[in-house]
Amino acid sequence: MMVSVQSVAYLVAAILFILALAGLSKQETAARGNILGAIGMVIALISTIAVVCIVAKPHQLGIIVGIVGGTLLIGAIIGIWRARTVEMTGMPELIAILHSFVGAAAVFVGYNSFLEQPGADTPDNAFHMGEVGLAVFIGALTFTGSVVAYLKLAAKIKGRPLTIPGRNILNLIAILGSLALIVWFAFTRSIAEGLVPLGILTAIALLLGAHMVLAIGGGDMPVVVSMLNSYSGWAAAMAGFTLGNDLLIITGALVGSSGAYLSYIMCQAMNRSFISVILGGFGSDGAVTADDRDYGEHRETTASDVAEMLSNASSVIIAPGYGMAVAQAQYPVAELTSKLRERGVEVRFAIHPVAGRLPGHMNVLLAEAKVPYDIVEEMDDINDDFENTDVVLVIGANDTVNPAADEPGSPIAGMPVLHVWDAKNVVVFKRSMGNAGYAGVQNPLFFNENTQMLLGDAKTSVVAINAAL
Ligand code: TAP
Repeated sequence: MMVSVQSVAYLVAAILFILALAGLSKQETAARGNILGAIGMVIALISTIAVVCIVAKPHQLGIIVGIVGGTLLIGAIIGIWRARTVEMTGMPELIAILHSFVGAAAVFVGYNSFLEQPGADTPDNAFHMGEVGLAVFIGALTFTGSVVAYLKLAAKIKGRPLTIPGRNILNLIAILGSLALIVWFAFTRSIAEGLVPLGILTAIALLLGAHMVLAIGGGDMPVVVSMLNSYSGWAAAMAGFTLGNDLLIITGALVGSSGAYLSYIMCQAMNRSFISVILGGFGSDGAVTADDRDYGEHRETTASDVAEMLSNASSVIIAPGYGMAVAQAQYPVAELTSKLRERGVEVRFAIHPVAGRLPGHMNVLLAEAKVPYDIVEEMDDINDDFENTDVVLVIGANDTVNPAADEPGSPIAGMPVLHVWDAKNVVVFKRSMGNAGYAGVQNPLFFNENTQMLLGDAKTSVVAINAAL
């Protein structure tokens, strides 16, 4: 009876998680999706804890309530504090470090399950041991991979790829060796016997996770974060198998497959194959990479000149990027948008799929500043409209509007970009000519005849334009 009530609760939670994912796929329904996911998680937690409490002996109840309640309370306090204080620009590293917790949890669950039920004395248990080995492998890899991703994204270690000679062969040997260790582990007969392969497996997986992410450069970090998201899902699903918890298997599989699909979409947006991302080696630390080409002179403009240009325009497209997030310029940008719309100017936003530092970064900022959804367009829907546009405002975007993507050999070669240069006039907002975008490459757009640079903090510049308007 109890178990069937729990099964129904798990089913409801699983449906809510699927509805949450569906909701998160569109800006208009994202908030609802989040709420549905949170309700699903509350149902999952209550039904799991309730069954544990019901089957527990009376003298165990106090300990269970103390441990579970205490852990939930500490987790909730830290979670609410981080969610309230994190800047949008700090989201990717927060997500990366959260993935590391899932990885670590899968390792602990694996070890715990092995210590409780060691030795492959029956075929069933040998299978279970195999699951434990796989859970520990994926969990440990996710743990160190996510910690390194966090350190890179938070600029605590250099973003440049670490390219050890023969690294792909080393990774391959580590993966094949780990598979052999899982098989060895699955047929051990005691804790003492099993701990040897499990310990070596954990050490290899920890090193492999760190090495794989160290080898990936700055420009590919978004894919890495979503790939680690996928790994953390599979680690959770494996933990679900080890614990015999169906909902954890379903939830892990949902996270694992949606993360994998997101990685695929992002790879397409950057025109890179998944394998080439994993095999790594692209990215920079921020300064423009030296290149001896003569790009000519750039032209600078002022806020009042831009205001005048905008007053005379009938169509404007705003292409925001990471700099808008850094400057927190979304509020004055929303004000500028409504001022121009009141004057009858058509204003739209062009959103590149990897603008900013995490998927949907720009959409979230614009939604926060109450920019209407219907004027926010995806790259593929708006890319052909630039040529009929009077003014494009590139606010803190660089790689995503870089025409060098069309040049073979460029680090961003083949990445689809916004064709802002087709517009009659382009104004680029950035702080100085010395800094590059994430990929570290020079942007020829800045030197085009129809481009003017408005140098300075994006928020200050847009506030000044609003004042002049
Ligand atoms: P970026 O290429 O990173 O360029 C950011 C621009 O903003 C730079 O030109 C920078 O120049 C300017 N900027 C920074 N702070 C500013 C401020 N306070 N005021 C005005 N301008 C400021 O941005 P993007 O075009 O959005 O491209 C995103 C890049 O990040 C891509 O390479 C992408 O692959 C990578 N990436 C994306 C993600 C996801 S999933 N979205 C995650 C990680 C990495 P100054 O420094 O001179 O001001």
